[in-house]
Formats: sequence, C-alpha cells, structure tokens
Amino acid sequence: MKNKLVIVGSGETAELAYEYFTQDSDCEVVAFSVEKAYLNNKTLFGLPVIPFEDIEKLYDPSKYKLFIAVSSTELNRIRTRLYLEAKRKGYQLASYVSSRAFVWRNVEIGENCFIFENNTLQYHAKIGNNVILWSGNHIGHRSIIGDNCFIASQVTISGFCEVGENCFIGVNASLVNNIKIAKDCIIGAGSVVLSDTFEGLVYVGNPAHPLPNRTSFQTLNVKAETPPTATLAEEKMLSSVIAKPIEH
Ligand SMILES: CC(C)(COP(=O)(O)OP(=O)(O)OC[C@H]1O[C@@H](n2cnc3c(N)ncnc32)[C@H](O)[C@@H]1OP(=O)(O)O)[C@@H](O)C(=O)NCCC(=O)NCCS
Repeated sequence: MKNKLVIVGSGETAELAYEYFTQDSDCEVVAFSVEKAYLNNKTLFGLPVIPFEDIEKLYDPSKYKLFIAVSSTELNRIRTRLYLEAKRKGYQLASYVSSRAFVWRNVEIGENCFIFENNTLQYHAKIGNNVILWSGNHIGHRSIIGDNCFIASQVTISGFCEVGENCFIGVNASLVNNIKIAKDCIIGAGSVVLSDTFEGLVYVGNPAHPLPNRTSFQTLNVKAETPPTATLAEEKMLSSVIAKPIEH
C-alpha cells in the first residue's frame, strides 16, 4: 500500500513535488496545505488545499506523511520553519529520490529531501534533513551536505567536502576537494571555490571571493534573525570585506 502524503505548499515547487511523487515514488499525494494567509484556491490537481494551521485535525500525523515543498526563499528559512513546525505537530517527513539518480548503497539521506534526476551521490556521501538537490549535481565520496541546503543544478562538490547548514549553491558552481563551506553561505552561479569560506557571506567568481559590504542574509532577504557571527579569527578577514555596518 502506498504512503499517504500531504504536500505543504501550492506553488511551482509543490506542483513539481506532486508530479514526481505521483509518477516516481511509493507515495500517493492526497492533499495540499498552505498557511491561511496564502490560501487562495480550495483545490489543486483536484485535491483539497487545506490550512496548515489546522492540518493535524484533518490528517492524523500517525497516518499521513508530509513533504514541505518550498524553494530557497529567504536562504531556505521558510522551508525550514515549516519543516520544524511539521515535526512539532508530530509528522514524519517524506523524502523523494529520483529513480534516475545514482545513489551508492551506503549514502545517507535525511528526511524532507528532494533529489532530482541525474544527481550522482557517491560512496559514503551524507545528505542532511530538508535538503533540495536540483538536477544533475555531483556529490563526491565522503562529502556531507548539512541540513536545509539548496543546491541548484550541475554543481560539482568534490570528495571530502562539508557544506554547512542553510547554504544556497548556484548552478554550475564547483568545489574542490577537502573544503568546508561554512553555514549560511551563498555560492554564486558558476563560481569555483578553492578554499574554506566564512559564515554568512556571498562568494562569486573563479577563484571564488566574498562580495564586499553585504551578507547572504541581506542578499536573500532573511528577516528577523541574528546576523552571522564571526569568530575572532574571522573578524580580521571580515573587516576587510565588510566595510560598513550590516543592517538587517
Ligand atoms: C550570487 C548571486 C545570488 C548574487 O545575486 P545579486 O545579489 O543579485 O548580485 P548582483 O547582481 O547585485 O551582483 C553583485 C556583483 O557580483 C557579481 N556577481 C554576481 N553573481 C556572480 C556570479 N555568479 N559570478 C561572478 N560574479 C557574480 C556581479 O557581476 C556584481 O559585480 P559588480 O559589483 O562588480 O558589478 C547571484 O548572482 C547568483 O549567482 N545566483 C545563483 C542563481 C542560480 O543558480 N539559480 C539557480 C536556480 S534557483
């Protein structure tokens, strides 16, 4: 029997999730759910769209799984907030892994992940919770992708890399082996990252360098959160990059 699934969201990511879960998984989508403020239509694909605030009254958390189908908005914060709220309500979160992805036998994949076609996940790669891997990425052997990351298409992450929580990595970016991308970074499209990064900055170019005078929070409009905190060791470097106070 198929797992019954409610998709949280009703935008393009939700429509994609509906299509992929329906055509290529052991889940049957039975409804959509959005927060009341976004409840514009009562149905989608002939299925009910119900308020997220009341979801547990209509769909018993012990009988239905959820998938939070939200993109990288606000540096993944919206998806993460709904994911944590779904867990607080007692739901299990489903992950989708394309039957056309290559996933080695000992790869670990968390919950509420969405892994599109043509991803290559090599020996002992580890994908955290609430991660989106859009199509065609290479996640090298022993590399770790932290919770809540969004990795766009055709990104090459070489072996033994670590990507911290909440990062956004743009299309066609490349990471050399054995480096750490600190949490809350944005890596721009086509950038080539040759060394570790500092938390909360935007890196672009080849070799990748941080954009001056701004953080990733400002770039993707993260609201109401403490800005990235630099360690003493990082502050010297940050002061050369960020010349004026950061406003959020
Ligand atoms: C990094 C990024 C988020 C910055 O966006 P932004 O805040 O709108 O940046 P701006 O256009 O203001 O650019 C700021 C500067 O960085 C440079 N820059 C931006 N992105 C760059 C990139 N990917 N590579 C090289 N330089 C880049 C710009 O040329 C500009 O330089 P300048 O100040 O010398 O003129 C964006 O450019 C990007 O790469 N996004 C990824 C998109 C993607 O992969 N989408 C996949 C589908 S979700």
